[in-house]
Formats: sequence, C-alpha cells, structure tokens
Amino acid sequence: MPGGGAWEALSVPYRSGVFDLAGVTPGPARAGAVWHRKSVVSTGDSALTSLGLDIDPAVDASVSATLAVVEDALRSNVASADPLVAEAARHLMDAGGKRFRPLILALGAQMGDPSRAEIVPAALVVELTHLATLYHDDVMDEAAVRRGAPSANARWGNSVAILVGDYLFARAADIAASLGPEAVHLQARTFARLVHGQIAETVGPRGSDPIAHYLQVIAEKTASLIATSARFGGLFSGVTPEQVEALTGYGETIGIAFQLSDDLLDIASESVQSGKTPGTDLREGVPTLPVLYALAGDDTDASAVRLRELLASGPLVDDALHAEALGLLRESAAMKRARETVRTYAEEARAQLAPLPEGSPRRAMESLCDFIADRTS
Ligand code: IPE
Ligand code: IPE
Ligand code: MG
Ligand code: MG
Repeated sequence: MPGGGAWEALSVPYRSGVFDLAGVTPGPARAGAVWHRKSVVSTGDSALTSLGLDIDPAVDASVSATLAVVEDALRSNVASADPLVAEAARHLMDAGGKRFRPLILALGAQMGDPSRAEIVPAALVVELTHLATLYHDDVMDEAAVRRGAPSANARWGNSVAILVGDYLFARAADIAASLGPEAVHLQARTFARLVHGQIAETVGPRGSDPIAHYLQVIAEKTASLIATSARFGGLFSGVTPEQVEALTGYGETIGIAFQLSDDLLDIASESVQSGKTPGTDLREGVPTLPVLYALAGDDTDASAVRLRELLASGPLVDDALHAEALGLLRESAAMKRARETVRTYAEEARAQLAPLPEGSPRRAMESLCDFIADRTS
C-alpha cells in the first residue's frame, strides 16, 4: 500500500506493548499487531521528506522544527493537578497520532513568516481541539482502540472520556484566548461546525440524498478543523487576505480527501496501519462512501448483489457477516469508485493553491495532495 509506511513515519509512535489490550474488543486489528514505530515529528527530523513529499530541505527543517516544539508543548499544556485527569488527558496524546492539523498549519505558515510566536500556540489549539473530539468520537462510535491504545472510554468509561474531552476543549480555548479574539471566534465556530457534522452523521440524511449528506458530514466534522489549521497558518504568518482564503480552501478540500481516505482505510487496512479496528464503521452502521456507492449501484453480478443485501441489513454486528461484507467491499467496484473520488478531491485541493506564489512551500502542499490520494490506492 503506497503511502502507508510513510504515514507511519510521520506519526508519533504508538506505544505498542505498553498497554494491556486484553480487555479490548478482539478483531483483525489485534492480529500480528504492528503499530506505528518510527517517530519523525517528535525528533524534529525531516517529517516531510520521510512522507515522500517533494520538498525543499530548508522548508522541511523549518516545518519539522515547528512540529517538534508543538510536540513538547502539547504535553505541558494538558497538565492537571488531578492525577486521573492528568493521566487520562495524556493518554491519547502519548499514544501517538499523525499531528496532521499542526502539519497543515506549519506548512501554511511557510507562505509567510513561520517563525512568528503565534504559530506554535495556534498549532496547539488545533491539535488539542482535534484530540478532544477523538475522546468524544470514540464514545459515540463505541470504539475500543485509538492510536493503537485502548480508547479512553474503553479504559475509564464514557463519563471520564467525555469529561476529559471537555477539559481538552477548555485547554484549547484558553490557548486560543492568548492569540486574540479572531482566534477564539475561529476556534469556536470551527468547533460548532464540527459538532454539526457529528450530529448530522448521528441523525442521518433525514430524507436528503445520502451521498450529498455524507459529503456534507465529512466537510463539517473533519474538513472544518483542517481548513482552520491552514487558515491559522496563513493568518499568523502574515500572508495576504487572498492567500489566507486560498489556504483555507486548500485545507477544506484536502480535509475532505483526508476523511474520505480515512474511511477507505477503515475498509482496506488489513491490519493495524490505522491504529484503529478495521471495519468499525461497518460494524457501527456508519455508512461511508464505498458503502453508499455500493448501495446506490445496480451491478447484477453475484458479489455486488450479495454486498447490497448485507449492507442494506444495517449494522453488521455478526462476525461472519461483517467479515463477508468487508471482503466483498474491498474488492468492489464501489471501492474503486470511492478511491477515484478521493483523487478528485486531492486534485481540487491542489488547484486551490493557484493564488499562492510558486515555490518550495507550495510544492510541498501540492505533494501532500498526492500523498493523501495515494494513501488508499
Ligand atoms: C482521525 O483523525 C479522525 C478523523 C477526522 C479522520 P486522524 O487520522 O488525524 O487521527 P490521528 O490524530 O492521527 O490519531
Ligand atoms: C471522526 O470521524 C471525526 C471527528 C473526530 C470529529 P470518524 O469516527 O469517522 O473517525 P475515526 O475513524 O473514529 O478516527
Ligand atoms: Mg470514530
Ligand atoms: Mg465518528
């Protein structure tokens, strides 16, 4: 799988073996577990080159240095006098993660002056906001594994997971306040949009077209924060208003491609590349693009018909039926079509960079589009 290994290189390593996974729902994710091992972000080395991005070494060094400072600052910014809160708040942060939103922010800041003092706090705001949503999302999705570790809800129960998520939002808001009212507005409005996406996903299309609904959901729940990450990068590095808008558009569209690729990986990942349990969406009955394409298809071959039958029956909680549907989906025309959709969004994100000056920072952002599209091919 092109890209998969490189993505692992970007990630802070999952703490394989540190956690006792015995109490975690068994599933394909646990067999032969190979968690993300190599840390680039935390050492400040070439985070972007290791992803295979076409990038100037000076840009890479600058972005990587920013990410390394962010990494340290994340830890000190979730401290709490209460040992349980402190432990639970650090739990997922220590478990790893791609730090994709700080990466987008740091890349966007390359368009202006990336050494400005606001860049690191802004990156903390977006990563802490993201982290908080993961605590809540895993409660909603009843997910047992996150970043290769037991989810907070699996470890401490739903109430603690929800409240620790709230605490992380509070930390993000506090840091945003240090950046001024525009940052506070932006963080609050982004969070409101994200929550609307999560709610829309929860209640379903309510009579509207399911594919249009799904695309709106992912724009709201995921692209919103990635767009804001790119916007912060532009705003705080001092680029022109036109360039800020271009960066925001880029973040929004690559954010959609990113979530689409995440949904595809939920189906396609054989083992634990994602640090999550593959097939979770299917088990929870969360319809993602390949499922929606499969349901909307009219192919009459036996496997397409059987797949539609399985998917139409609702959440696939039976292990055998779940495995059958996952196998059929992986080989389906719907999956192929969904991969093409990811590529279309990745190409569109690249086109949105047009108003930005040509040069190595822009080339790195263009290269990231290919990376996202290739991640699932
Ligand atoms: C997971 O986000 C939730 C989505 C919005 C897809 P990431 O894939 O960025 O998760 P981490 O931060 O690397 O764990
Ligand atoms: C996560 O969406 C979106 C947010 C956390 C806002 P998903 O539920 O699809 O993401 P994963 O697969 O659990 O990371
Ligand atoms: Mg989830
Ligand atoms: Mg979810």
